[in-house]
Order: sequence, then structure tokens, then C-alpha cells
Amino acid sequence: MAILKHLLLSLRAFLRLKVYRLRTGIGWYEAKAMIFWDAVRAYLTQLSPPMNLSQRRKSDENYQWQPGRGIRFILVNKRDGSVRSYSSEAFFAFHHVNAFEKGSDIFVDIASYTDSSIIEALYFQRLRAGDPVHRAELRRYRLPANGATADYELLTTESIELPRINYRLSNARDYRYAYGIGNRPDRPADFPDQLVKVDVHERSAKVWWQENCYPGEPVFVPAPHSAAEDDGVVLSVVLDAAKGNSFLLVLDAASFTEVARAEVPHHIPFGFHGQFFTDQNLGGASPALQGWG
Ligand SMILES: [Fe+2]
Repeated sequence: MAILKHLLLSLRAFLRLKVYRLRTGIGWYEAKAMIFWDAVRAYLTQLSPPMNLSQRRKSDENYQWQPGRGIRFILVNKRDGSVRSYSSEAFFAFHHVNAFEKGSDIFVDIASYTDSSIIEALYFQRLRAGDPVHRAELRRYRLPANGATADYELLTTESIELPRINYRLSNARDYRYAYGIGNRPDRPADFPDQLVKVDVHERSAKVWWQENCYPGEPVFVPAPHSAAEDDGVVLSVVLDAAKGNSFLLVLDAASFTEVARAEVPHHIPFGFHGQFFTDQNLGGASPALQGWG
């Protein structure tokens, strides 16, 4: 019965998309992208990136960067449904870090690039040629109660990507700590080669790195019954390029120093996002997703 319901809902979604395409005359991918953005806008504070998406071009030309259009932040008040719009200069981002209300303003922290050239920079042939990998910076955009322009300040000089926070304590709150991957300052163009913990209150950062090592997304796991925001560990799958294998690194989140590592005899391909599950999660209860991007 559940399968039949799923099939009927899928068919209805397909037909709606088809009708929408016929009505508007736009491409399949473009229609899906527009529906997706409409859905996201309906629920969240969201960015409208200055990009056109189309399936009419070759796959590597689907994105058209149009910085002249700038950025629009669309803010939906979930209490009364009212909508506000803010503009700012163009930038590009894959990941939000967090957003929260303080006083009468909204603050949105984003791992930001000056433009979309990071997409081309991550193509295999560019990486193999040793072309530089661009750095994302941690920006805090302020959406003021009075005004229609969003401006930003830099929260750290360290670069940051694949950001994670303590979602249980800090999601949508005035938080203190963000974790991510980044680049050592003396090797700004290398593939991300360090882990970073940013104290966004103090505007300071701690880092972990090891020669020839390339870490993946740091997943914060709170200690049982923890009260402090950084009481727990940070997990990251790290490639040791010199040895040719990977290991699961466990850092103490507070001091950002190594607690343990578990090596495997081979490399583990890079991913984007990870998740920690407790025995209880795996025992049948639906896993509590802590956040994803
Ligand atoms: Fe992502």
C-alpha cells in the first residue's frame, strides 16, 4: 500500500512538472530548479544566487555567473508569514554555517566565495593540473530590522568549508563554535589540508594539521549529557597522501587536539558530508539527523 501511495505521489509530481514545463516553455532542469527554490524560499531565510541554471547547454556550462544581478536574501517570518528582501554584492556559496536572531536583526554565517569559479576549479582536470583551489571565507551577513541591504564582516582569517556546528545546542541560536576544513595559510592554493575550529565570539581559531594529510568534513559529536557547546569530539576521515591510506581522526573538540585515530589499510575516497549514529540510532529508532548541507 505504501509503495502504491509513493508511486501515485511520484506520478502526480511528474505530471505537475510536465504541465509547468509546457506552460512556461522552460527546460526540465530549470523547472526543477525553480520549483526547488520556491519551496526553499517558502520555509527559510534563503539566498538567491546570481546564477542561471539550464540543461540546454553542455553539462559544464549549466551555470552562468551573472554578478551584476547581486545577491538577494529572502527572509520569511515563520510567525506571521511576512516576507522581506535584502540585496548585497554578488558572492557564491555552497554552505550556510548558521543563522540566528539577535536584537532586532538577523545574522547569517556563510562559507563564501567571491564568485562561482570554485566550481570549475574543482573539475578533475584542473585538480590534476595542480591549479589552485579557491578558499572560502567565513562571513557574517547582517539583515537589519530597518533597511534592505545586507552587509558582512569577516569572522576569521582562516578559510572554511564543509562547516559543522553543535546542532543540538546551537542551531539557529547565537552560537560560538564552528568547525570546518580549510587551508594552511602558507599553502593557500593546496587541496584543503587542515581542520579548523572557529570561535565566532572571540574571532579566533584553532587548527589541526599534519604533513601530507587531507581531512574531510569534521563531524561534531557531543559528549553524553554535555552542557558546554564544545564538550565532545570532532570526527574526520583524513587521507594520508604520503602513506596512501586514510584514518578516522578523533579530536577533543574543546582543545582541538588528537584523542585517537583508527587507520584503515587503504584510502577512502573523499566525500562531502558524514553523520554520526549511536548504537541506539542503529537499533531501529530513526536516526536523528543533526544537520546537513
Ligand atoms: Fe554540501
